[in-house]
Amino acid sequence: MMDKLLLVLQGIRRSRVWLSIFRREGLPQTEADRLAMNRRNFFVHILPAKIYKESARLSYNWLWMGVIATWLFVILLLTGVFLMFYYVPSAERAYDSVREIVNAVPLGRFMRNMHKWAAELMVFAVFFHMLRVFFTGSYQNPREFNWVIGVLLLVITVLFAFSGYILPWDQLGYYAAKIASNIAAGVPLVGPYVQQILLGGTDLWQPALLRWYVIHVFVLPMAMIFLVAFHFWRIRKDEYSKPYWTEERKRR
Ligand code: HEM
Repeated sequence: MMDKLLLVLQGIRRSRVWLSIFRREGLPQTEADRLAMNRRNFFVHILPAKIYKESARLSYNWLWMGVIATWLFVILLLTGVFLMFYYVPSAERAYDSVREIVNAVPLGRFMRNMHKWAAELMVFAVFFHMLRVFFTGSYQNPREFNWVIGVLLLVITVLFAFSGYILPWDQLGYYAAKIASNIAAGVPLVGPYVQQILLGGTDLWQPALLRWYVIHVFVLPMAMIFLVAFHFWRIRKDEYSKPYWTEERKRR
């Protein structure tokens, strides 16, 4: 039985479909082979070709908080698409549509709770990832630019949380948006214009809800996907940092 299974697996690994995706039959055996795999395979090409053994320690990268943030974002995308099938961005229907998702839609409560929990955990994970990068000095040359990209990612994460908070159109979200737009309107000179941009008017009603919906489901995800790809590409180019206690790091 096992032999047959292994034969089938070997067959799959030699098949044209497998090779067209993964570009090789088995695991890489030599150093050159490993580097070639990293270059050619889509799924791993985004990772650095080499990583220092000590850098992979959970104590150094604080449980890989950056990776956890990435997976939380994937969960948010998947559950968010599910919610988009039922949520109605209308001032009259938004609140009821969320109630329906929770009480009537199959798997609705699970998906909504996953979305809420992942959103809150992501803010936490991104923040702790930033603290890790700061306290291990990983923002230093040559990673200064990636730190800047990271700050943009943090801003986008917070905007995601804020815009998502408004969408259920309940008392909490409504008044959070009201307070935020009033604060924006209080900025000297540009305040009223900023409020106009945020609300699509002077009052918090349908145009504001639609505006924040589009920002939440399109503008921010696009910006996030682009910047995360850029962030990863930079990690690959700058190489993953070495722990401060190692000789290799001290020599730099
Ligand atoms: C959506 C938000 C973010 C995601 C998904 C993300 C993802 C990642 C991942 C997966 C890594 C490599 C693994 C790890 O160190 O955990 C990493 C490294 C890095 N991140 Fe982020 N990150 C985010 C936000 C930030 C923020 C807010 C900063 C700083 C302001 C930042 C700066 C960096 C730097 C400098 C590195 C290289 C670390 C090193 O080489 O040791 N990132 N990021």
